[in-house]
Amino acid sequence: MPQITFPQGFLWGAATAAYQIEGAVAEDGRGPSIWDTFSHQPGAVLCGDTGDIACDHYHRWESDLDLLVDLGVGSYRFSISWSRIFPTGSGAINEAGLDFYDKLVDGLVARGIKPMVTLYHWDLPQALQDVGGWVNRDTTDRFVEYARAVHARLGDRVTHWLTFNEPYCTAFVGNLEGRHAPGIKDESTAITVLHHLLLAHGKAVAALRADGVVGQVGITCNLTSPHPATDTAADTAAWRRLDLYENRLFLDPLFHGRYPEDARAYYEGISDFSFVHAGDLEKIAQPIDYFGINYYERHLVEADPGDPVRGWRRVMDAHPTTVGIGVHPEGLREILQRVSSEYTTLPLIITETGISLHDYANPEGDIHDAERIDFYEGHMRAAHDAIENGVNLIGFYPWSLMDNFEWAWGYAYRFGMYYVDYATQARTPKDSARWFAQVTRANGIG
Ligand code: FCB
Repeated sequence: MPQITFPQGFLWGAATAAYQIEGAVAEDGRGPSIWDTFSHQPGAVLCGDTGDIACDHYHRWESDLDLLVDLGVGSYRFSISWSRIFPTGSGAINEAGLDFYDKLVDGLVARGIKPMVTLYHWDLPQALQDVGGWVNRDTTDRFVEYARAVHARLGDRVTHWLTFNEPYCTAFVGNLEGRHAPGIKDESTAITVLHHLLLAHGKAVAALRADGVVGQVGITCNLTSPHPATDTAADTAAWRRLDLYENRLFLDPLFHGRYPEDARAYYEGISDFSFVHAGDLEKIAQPIDYFGINYYERHLVEADPGDPVRGWRRVMDAHPTTVGIGVHPEGLREILQRVSSEYTTLPLIITETGISLHDYANPEGDIHDAERIDFYEGHMRAAHDAIENGVNLIGFYPWSLMDNFEWAWGYAYRFGMYYVDYATQARTPKDSARWFAQVTRANGIG
């Protein structure tokens, strides 16, 4: 394999999210979020796991920041727990909640690490869900209040803002499949939620600009690289519909200021899109500074004859990993090239990619995760190919810094570069952490 070097100044990072690592769910005035409620429902999460304690990062943040130094990363992506700042979703700011993130950001700056803040990584205050959650248009205004409060406290030091992480998952995994909080299974709700997430993004970008934001502002979508399973007309049509559902429903409004032409047909009989008010799409499509992409999935798609209008089926991969999907680095190159040729020439950042393995410490205490190293090397090479093909890619953040509460899969699935022993909360570098530390220092792969 040839040696590769990334452009000077390339941002190497590591990513986490609040509910997945913090624990301390009732400390310093934090209110419950939809993930507290959901994870405590019997059967909602594998093995009944919850984020009550998680990685106890709320108490161990200082030594966790030292892990970032060991990795040699220039940036750290983390999210803010909205219900620490607004325990009941509105009203007075809980300053103690902001204090935690203030210390965290200072700790990053002191270590020379650029803070990348995700404002919404799925943990809506439960009090807002009680009045409809994201299906209620007012929630977009609550989000703006929250974004402004966080920005007022942290804005002088945060270099990168992300309004939302993966609108797809909130809308469709949380409100259509019901596998994530709030556990709703309703297609009309889901598409309304999606519009309100995008609208809240646009309104928050405008509000941060008005408040004089100095950091770069963006949003992260999880995108896929779908391909028809065969070249039959039926599979090709199914592939277009899946592509609408997994990619174009997000990219077209954000970058072209409109929903794709086939969206209304897809939702016929389910939603008439009356949730789109005059001026919404202009707000959604207003300029951002960079675009975040999370990449996990490349799909082969076939028609589902049982549902000819919306019917598509993802073909099971021949070599699935623990989470049931295959490893396809070339899909990352395809997505990067597609976004930059069809949607935007803005800087792109891979804000997540990673693989879950059944990692374990051997009797010597080592965690040999060669498959994870192969995964990262493959995806970094694919990202580098995209750069060589002209894509304006400026950063790469593996998911995740450490093993954590993996949503509906609880603690059973490990994505970290650091192994977490949940009984003792000890963090141990896996082989992939040592390998990644070499990559960040060499700015490439040798
Ligand atoms: C993404 C999420 C992230 C993590 C990874 C494995 O969809 O953004 O929090 O769960 O998947």
